[in-house]
Amino acid sequence: MKTYKICVIEGDGVGKEVIPETVQVLEELGNFQFIYEHAGYECFKKYGSAIPERTLKSAKECDAILFGAVTTPKPGELEKKLYKSPILTLRKELDLYANIRPISNFKDIDFIIIRENTEGLYSGREYYNPYTEEAIAERVISKKGCHRIIKFAFEYALKHHRKKVSCIHKANVLRITDGLFLKVFYELSEYYRRFNIIADDYLVDATAMYILKNPKMFDIIVTTNLFGDILSDEASGLLGGLGLAPSANIGNSYGLFEPVHGSAPDIAGKGVVNPLASILSGAMMLYYLGMKEESKILRNAVKSVLEKGHITPDLGGKLKTKEVTNKILEELNKII
Ligand code: NAI
Ligand code: MG
Repeated sequence: MKTYKICVIEGDGVGKEVIPETVQVLEELGNFQFIYEHAGYECFKKYGSAIPERTLKSAKECDAILFGAVTTPKPGELEKKLYKSPILTLRKELDLYANIRPISNFKDIDFIIIRENTEGLYSGREYYNPYTEEAIAERVISKKGCHRIIKFAFEYALKHHRKKVSCIHKANVLRITDGLFLKVFYELSEYYRRFNIIADDYLVDATAMYILKNPKMFDIIVTTNLFGDILSDEASGLLGGLGLAPSANIGNSYGLFEPVHGSAPDIAGKGVVNPLASILSGAMMLYYLGMKEESKILRNAVKSVLEKGHITPDLGGKLKTKEVTNKILEELNKII
């Protein structure tokens, strides 16, 4: 069996608790060489950089990156000026243009949000004009950016046997930017019709309501950066919190896998953080590496553990982080 090189960035707070659990689980499923690198606020305080060159170099040399969570300094903290967000830096340096967030509680809710990760309203082109006293953010939607994220979404539907891709936009108001996104969407959908993949579209404001009222109407959602950011956090509310929300950041050459949650300082160090968001991100990494069977086995193990009620306090249970991991390992040992 091939040995994969994984760049592991634990980060801060609960990142240091969930990643070791994930590594332990992954070790049961394949051969990995884990290469540990620093990033985050503690790293910043220690080495003067939130994401040292060495970490970036290592990330580029590995087969995949496993990322925990980092703490962002609060606005006004002196260091903020020099602090460069590690995750934004990685997304940019590795051109990780697709952010994938499965929304599944392993019961009735099961859809995927695919968000454009590099442009839109997060283009970084924001300025203040002192003459007009206007603050302006440019919403950049490029044809290339639309094409690659929408193609990614349809290809994802094909690979994962999904039936429908919904384009979420606000083209009635943002006629030019979202007009382009929607146009490229329907152009590409023509090709995928032969595989019986349905294409439809909804306005983003209505979608925010549908997600709560009728989440079953969605299969795959593809959308621009800001809309995807907001809708995916809203959707993780359907899962009872962030403890079950994994994610992947994918580009043409690299893949980075991380739980959606942050460093959770309110529970860090108490041994009660839910490791499943991170473990499910590990399952997404296995799929990306081509270990489809192992990925499925791991997801099934998570499903059984949830069904049996072996859960941490965030989901209403009493188990500690390590106890949940042990239950996962027990499930894996039954299958492997
Ligand atoms: P958070 O995601 O860290 O926590 C929000 C709430 O959810 C907290 O009450 C926390 O205890 C709970 N929670 C999160 N994950 C959990 C888990 N796995 N199990 C049980 N409970 C869980 O968001 P918050 O508090 O807004 O941010 C804390 C720090 O993390 C900030 O510095 C923020 O900037 C950073 N952050 C980093 C992210 C990243 O590294 N990708 C993403 C989001 C926030
Ligand atoms: Mg967010």
